[in-house]
Amino acid sequence: MPGRLFPLGGPVSEKDIVDRAEFLSSLERRLTEGQSIMLAGPRRIGKTSLALEVIRRIKSNEHYVAFVDLFRYNTKRELSLAIINACLENRSGISKTTAALKDGLKKITGAAKLTAKLQDLEVAFGLPSESKSDDELFNYALELSEVLAQKDKKHMILVFDEFQEVVRIAGEEALKVMRSYFQVHQHVAYLFLGSKEGMMNTIFGDKRQAFYRFATILPIPSVPSEAWVEYITGKFQAQTITLNDRVISEILTLSGGHPQDTMLLCSEIYYSLLEAGVKNLSLDFVRLGYERALLSLSPVFDELLDELGSLGNSRRVLVSLAKGLHIYSGLSGNPNDIKRAVDLLIDKAIIEKTGRGAYQFVEPMLKDYLNRRIEGY
Ligand SMILES: Nc1ncnc2c1ncn2[C@@H]1O[C@H](COP(=O)(O)OP(=O)(O)O)[C@@H](O)[C@H]1O
Ligand SMILES: [Mg+2]
Repeated sequence: MPGRLFPLGGPVSEKDIVDRAEFLSSLERRLTEGQSIMLAGPRRIGKTSLALEVIRRIKSNEHYVAFVDLFRYNTKRELSLAIINACLENRSGISKTTAALKDGLKKITGAAKLTAKLQDLEVAFGLPSESKSDDELFNYALELSEVLAQKDKKHMILVFDEFQEVVRIAGEEALKVMRSYFQVHQHVAYLFLGSKEGMMNTIFGDKRQAFYRFATILPIPSVPSEAWVEYITGKFQAQTITLNDRVISEILTLSGGHPQDTMLLCSEIYYSLLEAGVKNLSLDFVRLGYERALLSLSPVFDELLDELGSLGNSRRVLVSLAKGLHIYSGLSGNPNDIKRAVDLLIDKAIIEKTGRGAYQFVEPMLKDYLNRRIEGY
């Protein structure tokens, strides 16, 4: 199946990563120099795409790379096996080395090659075995990156996506254990990504926390509109669809340049044109695509609003902001509580401050969605 014109819903490949060229080179440079990095930002802004692209660029004769997505795991044992497999793949060339080792005796031919590839490791450091306890396996996993890099005279980049999930998977204590290993590693640079910004900032920025000052915290730049204009124009023109600046500027006003919202909007516009058999993108089609995009975002927005509903005043404050009220004069309630709600909304990157007492929605589509549903709150 040919890929979608505007990719959606997961990490995108290099040709569809709009802008980010400078940021990617900076990440690449820092990581290859051995610096560990932390990137926090809400979901759907392109963190995973960035990480996968940077390791794709770095993987080479001098560099090993490994990627572990913590959303996928529920127990310390699963997490340990994931780290071990991601590290060993650099040697074994297969993604599930631990499973292959376990099955080894049954499939002698492949196993012999695999054993040969891992023999020196087995002698010096042991192999991950079933008989290890959860904690033993965890410790093994945390030491493995450095052992492997050292043995093979490589530099290694280990990425943890959705790193804040460690706490859910293995408890707060696990953070301390991880740091105690990582901080003595000389051949490994770590890239930590997380979509729960509050937790990420605490883990890496709070003096009492295990990862305090372990990684350089970088802000993820937004995609500038010129880059979007170029990308969107190019994509539609490649399909021989004509469009003018006014139309693109409307698209970007509606999406606010938010990475996934913009992609989604363009995608829905494109399908509307296809279905109608029209080759000229007019404002009417922008509006049609917009309605469809908003509809398809509604489950995402509902989930977010549900989550906020359980967090004090934050949903009420957000609704007031959508209505355009001045939150301190326009809302009843204790100003400290309101301030706390505002801070939480900023922390979750739902709104951003634009001046004294002035805030705006990071996703204009969420604002519009709220306004349309406002009677419900
Ligand atoms: N730089 C970018 N250029 C274009 N689209 C992007 C970019 N970054 C993200 N996207 C869009 O956002 C979606 C989610 O990207 P992803 O990397 O999974 O984000 P995250 O890891 O922050 O949740 C992609 O499928 C794509 O539609
Ligand atoms: Mg992601």
